[in-house]
Amino acid sequence: MVDTSVILSGIKLDNPVIPASGTFGYGKEFAELYDINILGSFSFKGTTKEPRFGNPQPRIAECYSGMINSVGLQNPGVDAVSAKELKELATFFRKPVIANISGFSVEEFVDCAKIMDKEEQVGIIEVNVSCPNVHNGGMSFGVFPESAAEVTKAVKSAVNKPVYIKLSPNVTDITQIAKACEESGADGISLINTLLGMRIDINRRKPVIANKLGGFSGPAIFPVAVGMVYRVAKTVNIPIMGMGGVSRAEDVIEMMMAGAAAVQVGAANLVDPYACKNIIESLPGVMERLGIEKVSDIIGIVE
Ligand code: FUM
Repeated sequence: MVDTSVILSGIKLDNPVIPASGTFGYGKEFAELYDINILGSFSFKGTTKEPRFGNPQPRIAECYSGMINSVGLQNPGVDAVSAKELKELATFFRKPVIANISGFSVEEFVDCAKIMDKEEQVGIIEVNVSCPNVHNGGMSFGVFPESAAEVTKAVKSAVNKPVYIKLSPNVTDITQIAKACEESGADGISLINTLLGMRIDINRRKPVIANKLGGFSGPAIFPVAVGMVYRVAKTVNIPIMGMGGVSRAEDVIEMMMAGAAAVQVGAANLVDPYACKNIIESLPGVMERLGIEKVSDIIGIVE
């Protein structure tokens, strides 16, 4: 029997498959479809200090081999997540969860992280400095090494749980930003968030999305993600959660060979709510076919 387990900052996951933030809510809709305890973990909806209604509609544009979203970090706010969502989650999910947090100032990141740090079920705090859909926050912290480092240092000094920084691909050199986060104490790196993109309705001569631009995700970005995971893995010595266009067990293997210690699945959940279940169920067979006994043995195996 093959071994699909991986260890992420001291937390043992049964397998490396983790639904990505913003594609799995706080778990309950998916728990109605299947027992989500088969997951390695999951990263819950990007949570901010204050509740947010998100961006105006339309927020979604379909593309060849992917989609553009501009949700705008819609969420009920960290206090409601703590008081309601996490209480409910504990009734149907028995594993550590990843708390994805966002902010519009360093203080907001810290305030949110402190609240999540007190939550027993939170195993890792994933700090999203890469949301392309909000102004004066989100991605603006993640496109310069200095600001990414400032957020990392501030959050790290305020919490005890492992902190992973989620990076944007919309930068000149993602390795510099990852290195700055590592030097500022990050326990791990998540990458990549979505690529900034746009669709235009040629009949109306207007952008499809109300916010004009949005984040492009889906199978089309997989090679970009693999390349960035590979380059970052060769630069830092902390674990990487790789993501971007993953939709099959073979993609999980490829992302891990590039250097990911675990793999997040995003847009695929929106196409097929059973995507993660299917990947987890087919992973052992794919490992056997490729002669892989322990999935953790292949992390970063490609020179
Ligand atoms: O618009 C959104 O809520 C997306 C967030 C993200 O890509 O980080």
